[in-house]
Amino acid sequence: MSIAVLAGGTSPEREISFASGESVCRALKQAGYGRVETLDPADSGFLKEIESASFDAVFIALHGAGGEDGTIQGVLDYLHIPYTGSGVRASACAADKDVSKIIFEHAGIPVARGVTLCRGDELNPDSLVAELGKECFVKPAMNGSSLGVSLIRHPSELPKAVERAFESSDKVLIEQRLIGTEISVGVLGGRDAKALPVVEIMGQEGTDFYNKEVKYIDPALVHRIPARLPTGICETAGALALGAHRALGCYGFSRSDFIVTEEGPVILETNTIPGMTEASLFPDEIRHCGRTFAEACDEMIMLALQ
Ligand code: DAL
Ligand code: MG
Repeated sequence: MSIAVLAGGTSPEREISFASGESVCRALKQAGYGRVETLDPADSGFLKEIESASFDAVFIALHGAGGEDGTIQGVLDYLHIPYTGSGVRASACAADKDVSKIIFEHAGIPVARGVTLCRGDELNPDSLVAELGKECFVKPAMNGSSLGVSLIRHPSELPKAVERAFESSDKVLIEQRLIGTEISVGVLGGRDAKALPVVEIMGQEGTDFYNKEVKYIDPALVHRIPARLPTGICETAGALALGAHRALGCYGFSRSDFIVTEEGPVILETNTIPGMTEASLFPDEIRHCGRTFAEACDEMIMLALQ
């Protein structure tokens, strides 16, 4: 069977995507796939190549805009080429943190309190502080890997942070700072999809949150499976990750991130194409179940072909 692995792309997560693509390629070869080729949708000849090379399926190892937001999924649907993971609608909804929050709330999945700004909206730092508390997060609605995210400790920092977030997104979220343990829960499977073990993200000295700088260093330093949390909390988090996966209409796999507050887990986002590098959370969760990443990649391709 011949597989094209899509890696690179044009989003700010391009380099992470290359690392995900490399580890997926290795896994597919281990799983016995004969022809595995990496293609970068940012290359000018990409469309011609994907159309003419007659691959049996495409493994999308892209992150962020253009790869994880339904764009490439639409192209592949149009060309009738099977691909891994979620389709256009779920990808687009999950990629927009504003839209996904509305869907989560509707499904009864706890979300952070916050407001969404569109370009040109008035920013009133004092009323925001009154509503959300002194410390808050500013996030672009459309980015991954914590790019463009700022932690605000004083209202005077807000305007600059909002401007920075607007550089990469048309909508910007300002959210309360949730206090608690950051965790992440993968989901894998078709109609019988199941939650993977809960992984705990350990706080790093000198960093305010699990940002890009710490995400891709030695995994043993930054995450821990199973999470050091009561079984009941882990079960709730698993059920919420599955609930988020279903509410968004995801298919095959996803990974949702949460903060476990005193009231329980609150969802931050669902990644429809979680990082799959050697240091990433999702492959580690799979290995913790006693399965190899190669087996899981094989399952993802099988689900694409169903
Ligand atoms: N957006 C990155 C790749 C992740 O969440 O794993
Ligand atoms: Mg994330």
